Amino acid sequence: MRANGLSFDLDSVRARLPGHRVDWFESVGSTMIEARQPLVARRIVGAEYQTAGVGRHGRTWHSPAGEGLYFSMVLAVAPVPMITLALGLAVREAIGAGDLRWPNDLLIGGRKCAGILAQAEGSNVIAGIGINVSQREFPEGLDTPATSLALEGIEISREDLLVSLVPRIDEWVARPADTILKAFDPYARGQRVRAGEVTGITAGLDPNGFLRVRDDSGVEHTILAGGVRAV
Ligand code: BTN
Repeated sequence: MRANGLSFDLDSVRARLPGHRVDWFESVGSTMIEARQPLVARRIVGAEYQTAGVGRHGRTWHSPAGEGLYFSMVLAVAPVPMITLALGLAVREAIGAGDLRWPNDLLIGGRKCAGILAQAEGSNVIAGIGINVSQREFPEGLDTPATSLALEGIEISREDLLVSLVPRIDEWVARPADTILKAFDPYARGQRVRAGEVTGITAGLDPNGFLRVRDDSGVEHTILAGGVRAV
């Protein structure tokens, strides 16, 4: 525990991310809410734990104290679909392992290690990122089985992970759409999936970043929202 009451080394993070305002809390409901006030581009809001962490599709993001990296970052960018892909690529690069599941989950060995939520807020996007760092166990009944970096043999502190990830987010969200699409495309091909009513093989991304799935009769479908699962 440090003088500021956190077990997170905020001073070292601030020193290493000079272009960002970093606010860190012991506990919040959700960093997605906390980041709205004040809504300042490049601001990062994190917490040791969240009492009401939110995931995609109204799900809960389990956020035990000090075991994961939970933060939101305000981006002065749009539109959300392409940014979502860029965020996934940044997380994959910072962790250096795993596969992306469209649109932006990071899975290692088929288990979810990180999740991303991007919400438009006026002319900004609030990017919420949750990474399982040192958890050894997870709640029952998760939509996708979970893992953590520690369980996968990746030892990195939350501070070092954040400092490695933030510049990558800055870089990826500033890249042109065709670069983002090209980098993501390998993760969006050749897998048998179910997406709602459609079951088939992933066939890459369309120019807007939506997923193409070719069903068993050869018809191509464009999937607009997540919920894609391997079958
Ligand atoms: C998902 O995969 O469903 C997205 C999960 C996003 C979780 C992060 S943790 C930090 C930020 N605050 C939240 O309440 N949610 C996001």
